[in-house]
Amino acid sequence: MLSVVEANLDDLELFFNLANDKSVRENSFNSEKISFDEHILWFKNSLNNKHRILYKILKDKKFIGQIRLDILEKDTYLISISLHKEFRSKGYAFLALEQIIKERNFYNFKAQIKKENVKSIALFKKLGFEYVGDVDYIKKGEDG
Ligand SMILES: CC(C)(COP(=O)(O)OP(=O)(O)OC[C@H]1O[C@@H](n2cnc3c(N)ncnc32)[C@H](O)[C@@H]1OP(=O)(O)O)[C@@H](O)C(=O)NCCC(=O)NCCS
Repeated sequence: MLSVVEANLDDLELFFNLANDKSVRENSFNSEKISFDEHILWFKNSLNNKHRILYKILKDKKFIGQIRLDILEKDTYLISISLHKEFRSKGYAFLALEQIIKERNFYNFKAQIKKENVKSIALFKKLGFEYVGDVDYIKKGEDG
């Protein structure tokens, strides 16, 4: 069973290991390696940040990936996702994102994806996102 659950402080190391996965760093806009000290600061700040929600993706209770939501402006979330390598291309990213988007279907979502990240572009297009220029993809909420 696949579930998407809000993260807490106990997940600090799980998120650290995933963030430093080679392809996760390559596909991020900041591709530098992350130190553990830097991560502790970032993770704690993220959990306390009212404009950010971190989710863990669990497959049969095992941590397989994360989703991040950042409120950009009223009604719009920036959304991003990463999965551990061995759990990719099984449809899990699609299902996890679909669940989060459905829960907030009146919101607009924006994803920023590097041009060479063809997998991620295909994933977000399958979820209904449209390319709006530069590295930006948008899915409008049901209202707007
Ligand atoms: C991008 C990422 C989240 C995709 O996760 P995933 O679980 O592999 O994706 P899914 O299996 O749910 O696939 C959904 C769609 O994505 C695309 N996709 C997935 N794997 C693909 C592959 N190997 N080749 C081409 N397209 C692929 C397809 O459109 C697929 O739909 P389909 O199966 O109907 O063809 C994952 O590869 C990842 O964590 N990458 C590293 C971090 C990253 O790039 N994050 C996104 C930053 S914007």
